Amino acid sequence: MTQNVKGFSKLSKEEKINWITNNYFINPLEAKESLTKYWNSDENLQKLHDEFIENTLTNFYLPYGVAPNFIINGKSYTIPMAIEESSVVAAASKAAKFWGERGGFKTTIINTEKIGQVHFLFNGTAEKLTAFFNHIKEKFFSDTAEITKNMQKRGGGILDIELRDKTHEIANYFQLHATFNTKDSMGANFINTCLEQFAKTLESQANDFDGFSSEEKNVQIIMSILSNYVPNCVVRAEVSCPVDRLSESASIDSVEFAQKFATAVKIAEIEPYRAVTHNKGIMNGIDAVVLATGNDFRAVEAGIHAYASKSGQYASLSHVKIENGIFTFWMDVPLALGTVGGLTSLHPLVKFSMELLQKPSAEELMQIVAAAGLAQNFAALRSLTTTGIQQGHMKMHLMNILNQHQATKEEKQKVLDYFKDTTVSHSLVIDYLEKLRS
Ligand code: MEV
Repeated sequence: MTQNVKGFSKLSKEEKINWITNNYFINPLEAKESLTKYWNSDENLQKLHDEFIENTLTNFYLPYGVAPNFIINGKSYTIPMAIEESSVVAAASKAAKFWGERGGFKTTIINTEKIGQVHFLFNGTAEKLTAFFNHIKEKFFSDTAEITKNMQKRGGGILDIELRDKTHEIANYFQLHATFNTKDSMGANFINTCLEQFAKTLESQANDFDGFSSEEKNVQIIMSILSNYVPNCVVRAEVSCPVDRLSESASIDSVEFAQKFATAVKIAEIEPYRAVTHNKGIMNGIDAVVLATGNDFRAVEAGIHAYASKSGQYASLSHVKIENGIFTFWMDVPLALGTVGGLTSLHPLVKFSMELLQKPSAEELMQIVAAAGLAQNFAALRSLTTTGIQQGHMKMHLMNILNQHQATKEEKQKVLDYFKDTTVSHSLVIDYLEKLRS
């Protein structure tokens, strides 16, 4: 039976690997080989990756691809995407080309405000706390002046601090609810540092406040942390064209396609089971670019799904209208992204992505990411409402099946030729491969 381990993080990488492979694997040598073959031969590069996290054993690869031909606000982009799902980059590229020929994506920044909160308990009335808060409010700004100095030089900083009474939900529970502009950085460290200072200021000022009883002086800080829910850090992406330009194929009628497409979106607006999958398709595009640009995809995911539920029911992020013969498809998404700080100047491939995107500001990156998400959603809905998703999906998945069965280069070519005009299924590919081999 596997033993627990003490001081694991202090072991060397080799010692960690030995402990893991000897304890958990039937064939430790083979397991070790699985890890070491992903080590980078450039020692400095490997060290950089080793030091991103604790207990690094190896690197975990994802394919890094690009989707060219994105026209966003008249500017051409080749968008980097890091993702494992076979059909995503192909779908983004196809949608980019389609919309590039119809005026491209139009994107607008709606707002860029970030949020952070100090959660605390106060043993007194809301009226008394409000009077105290108004009295010391300026102190929150002056006590964080050193922290905010550089951000202010860049045009950002703390926008406002509010006191929020939450005692109707939890006894004695109040918040400092602060808003920030963090310019080109995602801002998590900046916000959290400001919040922790707010907490200290609150505690000490309450303690010294003559108007408070000893109970009231004893403010209890529960936690200080940014919120990944950023409903006021939102970008809109939109595409539109005359309905009769929607179909590229003689077998698909443009008007019928527009109506089916619009109904598919309406279904996602009212049916949560569909909305989750619909939005997952959007996230295929968003996450891939967020990851390739070194941003925090968990924060983005959490924030976007909360935003999709803001009406009280989880719903589609994208919407469609057909008016006066014009088809318009759009979505608003909250995106807290950074193009400076974090991994952006550390990870060589993130640096590559930033240069590929012509060193965008955070606002420009928000627009690129939103366009990639909308493109992905359009591509998925177009397939779903016309050919069905499996045709394109399985074509792209074909290579995975072939690799799983160690197909040779010649076998791969023969299978690809055979399935050019035939629907791909796992079993049909295996049958055909077996026939080739017999
Ligand atoms: C698959 O990764 C994404 C889709 O399911 C999205 C959708 O259904 O809209 C195809």
